[in-house]
Amino acid sequence: MKNCRLLILGLVIAVVSMGFVSIAAAGPIVIKFSHVVAENTPKGQMANKFKALAEKRLPGKVVVEVFPNSQLFGDNKVLEAMLLGDVQMACPSLSKFKKYTKVLQLYDLPFLFKDMDAVGRFQQGPYGQKMLSSLESKGLIGLGYLHNGLKQLSSNSPLRVPADAKGKKFRIMSSDVLAAQFEAVGAMPLKKPFSEVFTLLQTKAIDGQENTWSNIYSKKFYEVQPYITESNHGLLDYMVITSAQFWKGLPADVRTELKKCLDEAIAFGNKVSAEKAIADRQKIIDSKRSEIVELTPAQRQQWVAKMKPVWKKFEGQIGKDYIDAAIAANK
Ligand code: LMR
Repeated sequence: MKNCRLLILGLVIAVVSMGFVSIAAAGPIVIKFSHVVAENTPKGQMANKFKALAEKRLPGKVVVEVFPNSQLFGDNKVLEAMLLGDVQMACPSLSKFKKYTKVLQLYDLPFLFKDMDAVGRFQQGPYGQKMLSSLESKGLIGLGYLHNGLKQLSSNSPLRVPADAKGKKFRIMSSDVLAAQFEAVGAMPLKKPFSEVFTLLQTKAIDGQENTWSNIYSKKFYEVQPYITESNHGLLDYMVITSAQFWKGLPADVRTELKKCLDEAIAFGNKVSAEKAIADRQKIIDSKRSEIVELTPAQRQQWVAKMKPVWKKFEGQIGKDYIDAAIAANK
């Protein structure tokens, strides 16, 4: 009997010391996925799809908890929280990485990409792929890009030419390029978190903002902004981010499967983004709460002429070769 107990004890010690404690025994790996937008957006739907796929394919091993609408962290805090291990995945806009890397400022350059196909070509090319690892020295890993779409300018008065924006206050994301873009037309940019935009617009603390059709629709900005200029002047895309410590600490098979789930979820989210750019625009028109201002080619050219010189200011920080590669993706 005594020998038998000793044998069992010996076996237990051997199993534990050889690292054979199963993940299930230790409880599932919990992935907190934090984002700031509504669930009926490309990012909201991508995150929910990732959860569904991961929990289906890794049952009992992985649980994904999605926190939309800045419930857990706003974009200004989420990366710090990730480095502290309080959240494992997030998908901030490419405009929100300024503290961590300068090269991603490329994506904020006004009138850089002619359409979303060009954005996709650049992101899948060598420069776009290299940018995914631009945060690694800071302990963060880019797992992939997700599209939202091109931005429009909303305001409390119609914006047809750059002079119409002069002296107006616009909310921007935390990007120096976006600040320079609005300063170039004589406007006043204010860096504010996404969660505050509706109230700032509603109380008229600011005059306008820039965003995609799906964000303007899902956060009801169109209800408090009587004019939206269809400018397509800039890009709002995202990077799915995780911490290097968390990602590299995962069992290899779990990591491989999670990456596959994420790639599928991103493909799904990109499809949603293309559909929403059309459908949410139409819903805004149908609501009759906001008038869409279409620019003539000559009017658009005036915005280009004022805003494009911003590129030169940031060329040194971004790298001319990156900008050239983005321009080449337009062809
Ligand atoms: C914004 O702050 O306007 C956007 O980054 C929100 C988002 O994540 O789409």
